[in-house]
Amino acid sequence: MGRITASCVEKILDSVRIEEVVGDFVQLKKSGSSFRGLSPFTQEKTPSFYVVPSKQIFKDFSSGKGGSAVTFLMEHEQLTYPDALRWLAKKFNIEIEEEASSEEADEARNLRESLLSVNAFAAKQFASWMWEDTVGRSVGLSYFRERGFTEETIRRFELGYHLEGRSTFFDTAIAAGYQAEFLVGTGLSIARESGGHVDRFWGRAMFPIHSLGGRIVGFGGRVLKSDAKTAKYLNSPESEIYHKSRVLYGLFQAKQSIARADRCYLVEGYTDVISLSQAGVQNVVSSSGTALTLEQIRLIKRLTEHVTLLYDGDAAGIRASFRGIDLLLEEGMLVRAVPLPAGEDPDSLAQSMDTEALQAFLKEREVDFIQFKSDTLVEEAGNDPIRRADMVKDIVGSISKIPNAILREVYLRDTAVRLGMEERSLFSELDRIRAADVRAAERDRDRQRHEEPTLVLAPAPVVDQRPPAVEEELMRLLLLHANDRIQGSDEAGESYSDAAAALILDDLAADDLTFDYPVYAEIHGAMNAAWQQDERIISAEVFSRHPEPAVASVVAELLTERYALADWKRKNIFIQDRGDNLSKHVEECILRFKELRLSGMIQQLKLELEATTNEASRLELLSRFTTLQGVRNALHKKLNRVL
Ligand code: CTP
Ligand code: MN
Repeated sequence: MGRITASCVEKILDSVRIEEVVGDFVQLKKSGSSFRGLSPFTQEKTPSFYVVPSKQIFKDFSSGKGGSAVTFLMEHEQLTYPDALRWLAKKFNIEIEEEASSEEADEARNLRESLLSVNAFAAKQFASWMWEDTVGRSVGLSYFRERGFTEETIRRFELGYHLEGRSTFFDTAIAAGYQAEFLVGTGLSIARESGGHVDRFWGRAMFPIHSLGGRIVGFGGRVLKSDAKTAKYLNSPESEIYHKSRVLYGLFQAKQSIARADRCYLVEGYTDVISLSQAGVQNVVSSSGTALTLEQIRLIKRLTEHVTLLYDGDAAGIRASFRGIDLLLEEGMLVRAVPLPAGEDPDSLAQSMDTEALQAFLKEREVDFIQFKSDTLVEEAGNDPIRRADMVKDIVGSISKIPNAILREVYLRDTAVRLGMEERSLFSELDRIRAADVRAAERDRDRQRHEEPTLVLAPAPVVDQRPPAVEEELMRLLLLHANDRIQGSDEAGESYSDAAAALILDDLAADDLTFDYPVYAEIHGAMNAAWQQDERIISAEVFSRHPEPAVASVVAELLTERYALADWKRKNIFIQDRGDNLSKHVEECILRFKELRLSGMIQQLKLELEATTNEASRLELLSRFTTLQGVRNALHKKLNRVL
């Protein structure tokens, strides 16, 4: 794939509406002219994540990240810069224009593409074996038909059959031109130590697993022989394209229904998804037999906050439904459950009734999850005091995870009634658990902070090491007020007016001054070059889209007026009436900036003076020292005049 042309990049960036991009991943609430939500980068409970549509930036005060829609995708989806652009182009319907394919092809992309194309080929092959091969039809197709799947359903989920044999699939794929390396990479083939390759899924019914976007990232394969000694289901191993913890089976087919119904049914197995979907309940996904992960929950949360658990009606199924649910609650999801009759699973239930009856059943039997959990546990605990005490802790533990304080309280009062207990004692248990959680979170943070040095691989946004306040304020002026006209006065005292950025850049250039703080130095360097070369002022928005996340983040931070939210103290030397008296403020800032640089130089000279033993250079240093002090005195006079 070639490079995206510069004009296309412009077009993409101009069409982006950041609130819609971020809104795909974070629940945003309008708050004045901006939007607020919970940071998707940390586990915070109170929103400190901002999106400012007028500036097309986001800022997350809890993780320190910030920037444009592109930066957001890079950080949140772990996309590269070009992939983030492609993502945006797709969302906003912009056709990608590429330069003639470049030599330096992106290797990781190639690997991913190769693996994906092997999987696409495999799914087609398994389907054609099932529909067209005599054995495939009599073994594979008849299995799915026996399970009650219609032809339409089988095609919708792209089900197939993997013929038996040692390396039937491997040989077919090689003959079709696919490379052994990628066949092994997807896990469809296994390389033997003794040489040669064998198929992983031979003789199995095949369930392709799709990414949210619909590409096949892996497979589940079910044995068909009931006497088989091997696992009932085999799944693709983890690979560059398949991360079990990040996919939900059926989500690709279900996503529109989930959004439309504003509800997602959660089941355990492949066949549960397929049968429910066939029966008309299409908003259903499965985590494929494992406990839900945070990533999976967030995939759902992009579409809805309402989750309904549909787990087997036996004790193990109910137990399983309690696992991982605290995580759902913690993410602010509103969880319900439908207890199934003993011996039924969602698949058998769906096969046993028609659409109308099924929908009625799900609607009528649906109960709030916390209520369901407490009713189940109450029954289990019976009259045993110790078990009852454990149960109370367990339930209050779940309630403590709910981020919304009002909801938490409602649940607690309700539970007190259900358990016939004093509200007071439940509240004190809740406080105890929450305090312990806070302590645990702090320990986690401390540990992370400890581990940080070894974790930092790329130039991370400098969070701890803050720039000098003067540099920060001057940079803010350069970015926020670049085009505001202000008054200045030249050496002769003649006054004139120009854009703030023009005055600042020229003034710094006259004395060859630069910023110390690396990210600012980068921004100033670029602005200065554009200004000195063709009198062009680069706007802040351009930097907030900078491909280097550290730059984008710092700019976003300045643009969101960080000081307005925190950090008042450190900087309040500056913030009075900046708007009303911009000219004066700019002048003051430039002077203070120069003073900072001068002090640095004088300090440096002092050190050199102390170190030198050569009389000639001593004299020379001394004279420079005197000059600099003279300049500094003049500077102080000017500053006093301005103030
Ligand atoms: N599973 C798995 N490996 C196994 C068993 C189960 O990965 N050895 C996963 C599969 O995703 C399966 C889910 O756990 O769909 C639920 O398992 P189970 O209830 O045993 O399977 P069902 O979906 O009911 O499968 P079937 O109806 O085909 O027996
Ligand atoms: Mn089943």
